[in-house]
Amino acid sequence: MQDRDLSTIKLLLVDDEAHCTKLMEAFLRQAGYGLITTTNDPRQALDLYQKVKPDLVALDLRMPHLDGFDVMRQLRQVIPAEDYVPILIVTGELDAPSKHRALAEGANDFINKPVDATEVVLRIQNQLQTQRLHNQLQMHNEHLEAQVRLRTKVVEQTQLDLLNRLVMASEYRYDAKGAHAWRVGRVAKLLAEIKGLPPDQVDMIKKTAPLHDVGKIGLRDSIIMKVGPYEPAEFEGMKAHTKLGSTILADSRSPLLMMAREIALTHHERWDGKGYHKLKDVQTPLTGRIVTLADAFDVMTHPCSYKKPLTLGEARMEIERHAGTQFDPELSALFLQLIDRDGETLLNDVTDAPFFG
Ligand SMILES: [Fe+2]
Repeated sequence: MQDRDLSTIKLLLVDDEAHCTKLMEAFLRQAGYGLITTTNDPRQALDLYQKVKPDLVALDLRMPHLDGFDVMRQLRQVIPAEDYVPILIVTGELDAPSKHRALAEGANDFINKPVDATEVVLRIQNQLQTQRLHNQLQMHNEHLEAQVRLRTKVVEQTQLDLLNRLVMASEYRYDAKGAHAWRVGRVAKLLAEIKGLPPDQVDMIKKTAPLHDVGKIGLRDSIIMKVGPYEPAEFEGMKAHTKLGSTILADSRSPLLMMAREIALTHHERWDGKGYHKLKDVQTPLTGRIVTLADAFDVMTHPCSYKKPLTLGEARMEIERHAGTQFDPELSALFLQLIDRDGETLLNDVTDAPFFG
């Protein structure tokens, strides 16, 4: 306690007997305490507490209008649970049940009447020492929590950096900037949003959808770089990218990688069950159904080596036409709303994608 300046410690004394508060105040001033507020009207205790914000309250138990229990109840309601503000009950003879009740309702210690200078000072000093330790512990905990938050952020950012680099690596041979991948991420995010998924899921879909074609990293150049439509055998080779992607992303406990794997494996399924792995309607996870639409829309509306892009209106009609066969009908309807609302934006490259530009 010696390293704490007693003149800065704020004390609130509540007792209906003026001679009692005067005596205690005198003892405490003599001990070095400088900021002492007193009241002989318990009805003022709460207002005074809120005005003064004392470090400690000394409270008489038997008072008119409001007794010590009532005042203590009022104070405990406004003292934040994480703050340690000691309440000392100043009382004469107190039976055991009343003592138990006082302790149960938030009293930290007792001071006996008639008050004795040494006891008053020492009991208050003990409580302030406990308060100081409590505050130190709390500050230490807050520091540790801040450290954990910071480290967690670094780990999450590192994980995302690595995922984004994996996207770049997997797309590099045929789309060095990964423009298609980032656009699919953006469209999938908007579709997840309009579907009403929770924000954390929307964010995860935005981050993982660009990895949908990660398995293409394992395909031969003759397939990846092919100009023109695929022969049946080449198409079979192309289909392998879903399983390759799933293998690359397998066996992780990271929620991001687990979602990325799900998307990589299922983004070529069809609602009617005629997709790569013959999953039908909701057998395909929602993430896969969302990215199927986002991917198909982006492929339709951007040029490739053997076809011109569709206009927005043409792409809209294609989605409408394939709703319920190729695409999830409910998601298709939502996607049409998205096109009507944000159509032109959906076509633009993502300018804030990682490593872009
Ligand atoms: Fe794909």
